[in-house]
Amino acid sequence: MISIKNISKSYDKKNKIIENLNLDIKDGEIFGFLGPNGAGKTTTIKMITGILDIDEGDILIDGKSIIKNPVEAKMNFGYVPDSPDIFLKLKGIQYLNFMADMYGIGLEERKNKIEELTKLFEINDVLQDKIQSYSHGMRQKIIIIGSLLHEPKNWIIDEPMTGLDPKSTYELKQIMRQITSKNHAVFFSTHILDVAERLCDKIGIINNGKLLFVGSVEEMRDKLKENKSLEELFMEITKND
Ligand SMILES: Nc1ncnc2c1ncn2[C@@H]1O[C@H](COP(=O)(O)OP(=O)(O)OP(=O)(O)O)[C@@H](O)[C@H]1O
Ligand SMILES: [Mg+2]
Repeated sequence: MISIKNISKSYDKKNKIIENLNLDIKDGEIFGFLGPNGAGKTTTIKMITGILDIDEGDILIDGKSIIKNPVEAKMNFGYVPDSPDIFLKLKGIQYLNFMADMYGIGLEERKNKIEELTKLFEINDVLQDKIQSYSHGMRQKIIIIGSLLHEPKNWIIDEPMTGLDPKSTYELKQIMRQITSKNHAVFFSTHILDVAERLCDKIGIINNGKLLFVGSVEEMRDKLKENKSLEELFMEITKND
């Protein structure tokens, strides 16, 4: 469960990039965070994960404040950033062991998990290579795997499908469903509206740092009184902003 409580953020003390944002992502829910480029999705995600300071408000991850109890809050989520170009000097296996160490995962458990997930995403044969030799999609996969080792109660992923091949995209969606079937939460940003329409229990649409809509796609259709695709509804709801 992620509770965003009235947060605001500006980068330059003048323009508010995020303004009084309130949002709850409930356990057992796949929540899709949608919005045009520059809307404030990554900024919001970076505040949830404690990478960016919050100017006003607070964010609770399973009841733990990212401001007051950052370490406890961080133990409650797994995070995949929008850019996978990190820890390039480490070998794949070193990165995964580093992540397992951070979350205090025992040797046997991590071995099984790493084997299972690297086979699933078909990168088990490159774990002795440095991440800098990986393609964009392979880097994406190693970060996805690293974020799953501790079986996060909240999985926060910023545009996770960018650059993934069809099989990996399929596996990613399956994992999202598995996580929510354990009554954990998935919060992801995406521009792929047909995936969002089929996958998400709930969507939120943000533009210019303000939330324009939160609810199911069905609720959005009811609200606009139109029987349209999510793509058409998205164009309609973001057009005057
Ligand atoms: N480090 C930064 N310094 C100054 N402004 C920033 C910084 N990062 C983002 N911004 C601005 O904040 C706004 C929101 O950016 P953000 O990256 O949150 O958008 P987004 O919704 O994730 O977009 P995209 O779909 O392109 O990923 C944009 O106007 C952007 O220019
Ligand atoms: Mg972004």
